[in-house]
Amino acid sequence: MSAGVDLWAAHFGFSATPFTKAVPADKLFSRRVHDEAVARIRYCIAESALGVVTGDVGSGKTVALRAAVASLDRTRYTVVYLANPSGGPRGLYVAITSALGATPRFHKAEAINQVASLLAQEEAERHRKVVFAIDEAHLLSPEQLEELRLLANAEMDSASPFAGILLGQPTLALRLRQGIFAALDQRISVRFAVTGMDLAESVDYLRHHLALAGRTDPLIADDAAARLHRYANGLPRALNNAATAALMAAAADNKGLVDDACAKKAVAELTRT
Ligand SMILES: Nc1ncnc2c1ncn2[C@@H]1O[C@H](COP(=O)(O)OP(=O)(O)OP(=O)(O)O)[C@@H](O)[C@H]1O
Ligand SMILES: [Mg+2]
Repeated sequence: MSAGVDLWAAHFGFSATPFTKAVPADKLFSRRVHDEAVARIRYCIAESALGVVTGDVGSGKTVALRAAVASLDRTRYTVVYLANPSGGPRGLYVAITSALGATPRFHKAEAINQVASLLAQEEAERHRKVVFAIDEAHLLSPEQLEELRLLANAEMDSASPFAGILLGQPTLALRLRQGIFAALDQRISVRFAVTGMDLAESVDYLRHHLALAGRTDPLIADDAAARLHRYANGLPRALNNAATAALMAAAADNKGLVDDACAKKAVAELTRT
């Protein structure tokens, strides 16, 4: 914590900085959309299926994946997480091959066979299933989407070699529906859109994060919470930022409560260019 953060956190007597992204998986805010996203991802993992989870920036996609993966028995699952697909045309093979402890072969056909046999070994010898999660998947190039199809196809469709979870912005779903990706699109058995929170959920979300920081008493007035919710459009990350700015404004004015004037200041600060 920097000195500035310390000051406003101390002002409210927080035991930890509220509204950070470092929320342990078992302390995440549970709302219907989040719980459903987690359930869908768990289903994909259990069935070794391909799933696509879309949602706006900061809606909670990565958090849902983190929650689903946290509950996995790591002796039975190997999780390969690609934070973004910037690794180029061979990136997907390299990610899986390296995660399974091998050196990726150079030629594409060999690389696919290598991944297929590594996945088979992982299951047959180590009794582990591979979960391949690709974040920021809207950035996947057409070549990479084709790679993914080939990987999903590796065992002539007789068995699913891995569970694949694609997380990305809403454009991902639209792209996959384009005809050239039809073969991959048909293999996707789960699709889920993470949407923002409604006002009641945002109010509960704010309370949840404040409670995690040690304050269970009401700290944000109703009209202030409504203003922060509108600014954030119900999206958790934007709401984190708005709530933090509002708490700082309250601390600067030596107020014990975030009133609507603080929320207004916060929104003005965040929308200033
Ligand atoms: N269920 C939740 N409980 C607690 N905090 C949450 C929850 N969902 C989202 N958040 C908060 O919102 C932030 C953004 O969520 P997340 O990183 O999952 O968004 P995203 O949809 O992956 O965004 P991006 O498209 O930018 O990758 C998290 O860092 C976390 O602070
Ligand atoms: Mg994310």
